[in-house]
Amino acid sequence: MFNIIICKNYEEVSAEAFKVLKEVVVKNETPVLGLATGSSPIGLYKNIQADHKKGYSYSKCITFNLDEYIGIDKNHEQSYWTFMHENLFNHLDVKEENINIPDGNSDDPEQACLDYEEKLNKYEVDLQVLGIGSNGHIGFNEPGTAFDSKTQIVELDEQTRKDNARFFDSIDDVPTHSITMGIESITRAKKIVVIATGENKADAVYGMIKGPVTTDLPASILQRHDNVVVILDNDAASKL
Ligand code: F6R
Repeated sequence: MFNIIICKNYEEVSAEAFKVLKEVVVKNETPVLGLATGSSPIGLYKNIQADHKKGYSYSKCITFNLDEYIGIDKNHEQSYWTFMHENLFNHLDVKEENINIPDGNSDDPEQACLDYEEKLNKYEVDLQVLGIGSNGHIGFNEPGTAFDSKTQIVELDEQTRKDNARFFDSIDDVPTHSITMGIESITRAKKIVVIATGENKADAVYGMIKGPVTTDLPASILQRHDNVVVILDNDAASKL
């Protein structure tokens, strides 16, 4: 079931997303948060930072990130480890041992997936933050991914590599594979908040909410989840 909130700009989108997250954090003794990288949650993360600056402690939070590129060092400027530390963790009091990000540098990535899924299974994610790809992916689960997938190695779609090329010197530098929580691992969360802005997300947002539930558009599985908040700007909502 979707609760859809349409906002006039990104600032409002981020403030609404923060409200959803803060409510979950306040309500739980040890909040377990599923976190995403990418442009969509940056404003949310800024709000969390500001809240911490005002004195609120996030030290009880346990976090699990959705995904990480394979084959770039975690200290690489475009790794998701670096992204999360620069945009959030370096500014908060979350304990480093409570931060979980898939290990894209493991000698044995298959085992790294199993280990991540096993750890994730020990918790119940109270809130999963998601962006959505222009092709409808969630995490790096590209079109065609099975709905019952667990943490896994995936080959990035050409569209996704093009979308992410803006962060690298050239498209050739964008990694070809990543580790991602699977669709089942993501949808186990008790509550999900999807953030999407911009016209290039309008088709994917439409498919997620109004299209058929199909692996061709992974986010459409969220129609079967009973607690999803979708926060959009007018452009992303324009096809609804
Ligand atoms: C990020 C992730 C991706 C992004 C999606 C949207 O951890 O898993 O699914 O959420 O690609 O990216 P942005 O927000 O950059 O448009």
